Amino acid sequence: MTQTIRKAVFPAAGMGTRFLPATKATPKEMLPLVDKPLIQYGVEEAVAAGCTEIIIVTGRGKGTMEDHFDRAPELEASLEKRGKTALLEIAQSVSKLAKITYVRQPEALGLGHAVLMAKELVGDEPFCVLLPDDIVDATVPCMKQMVEAFNRTGSSILGSEVVEGEAISQYGCLDCAPVEGDERLLKVRDMVEKPKASEAPSQNAIIGRYILTPRIFSLLEQLTPGAGGELQLTDGIKALLQYESVYGFTYEGKRHDAGDKLGFLKATVEFALKRDDLGPKFREWLKSFPL
Ligand code: G1P
Repeated sequence: MTQTIRKAVFPAAGMGTRFLPATKATPKEMLPLVDKPLIQYGVEEAVAAGCTEIIIVTGRGKGTMEDHFDRAPELEASLEKRGKTALLEIAQSVSKLAKITYVRQPEALGLGHAVLMAKELVGDEPFCVLLPDDIVDATVPCMKQMVEAFNRTGSSILGSEVVEGEAISQYGCLDCAPVEGDERLLKVRDMVEKPKASEAPSQNAIIGRYILTPRIFSLLEQLTPGAGGELQLTDGIKALLQYESVYGFTYEGKRHDAGDKLGFLKATVEFALKRDDLGPKFREWLKSFPL
C-alpha cells in the first residue's frame, strides 16, 4: 500500500527575468492567463490530484500571491452588498482551494534548493512538485495522472515529454527505457540537467511536474552547484537513483511554457478560445485579424 499524496510544493521564488519588465514588481506566477493567475492553475491541478496542503516557496516581492489565496473581506462585502453573487463566488472560491503555507527561499540558489526549503513542511511523506510556469492543459489533470502512476509503482514519478532537436538542452533530460505493459511509464537509468543537444541521452525532457519520495531531501542537502552554477533538482533526483527506482511518465495533455513570452501568448490564445464566454467572439475577431 503506497502512502497517500497530500502535499504539493510550488517553487515560486524565481525572479522571472524572462518576462521583464512585467515581472519587475509583479511575481511572474501572478501573470494572468485570460483571467486567472498562472499559479492558480497549478494549485487547482494539485487539488484535483487529491492534495489538500499546498506549500509555496516564495521570496521577496511575492506578497501578492499570499493576498490572492487569502480572504478579501472588503471586496467580498462590496460584492455581496451589490448582489454580485457570481463574482463573490469566484473571489471566495480561491481562498477555499486548500490549506496554503508559505516558506521563503532567501536566495535564488536553484530549483533543488527551493524544494529543500519545504523539507520541514513536507516531512516524511511523498509529495508533488509543480513548477507554475508549466501549464498543462489535459482532460485528466496531469498531476492526477501522475498520482495514479505513483499508486501503481510507489516510486518517484517525473512528468516527461519528447521534445524536438536542440530544445532538449533547455530541460532536464532522461536516459530511460520503456516499461513493458505500461505505455506511459519510462524506467529512468540516469538523468542530466540541460545537456548539450549533441550529448543528450534522449529527447525525453522532464517537465515541471514531479512526485518525489521524502528521501530526496537528504540528497538535496548534499547538492553541489550543477548546470548554470545552480543547485539542481535534477541532480538530487539523479542521486536518488542510487537508492530507489524513478520513473518518467509520458502524460496525456498539452504543456505550455507560460514563463516565456511566446509560450505565454500561445497559451493565452488557446485558453481564451476554449472559454464558453469569450471563445466565440475571440475566434471571430481572430479570423478578421489581418495577418
Ligand atoms: C526546470 C528544471 C528542468 C525541467 C524544467 C521544466 O528548468 O531544472 O529540469 O526540465 O524546469 O520546465 P527551468 O525551466 O527552471 O530552467
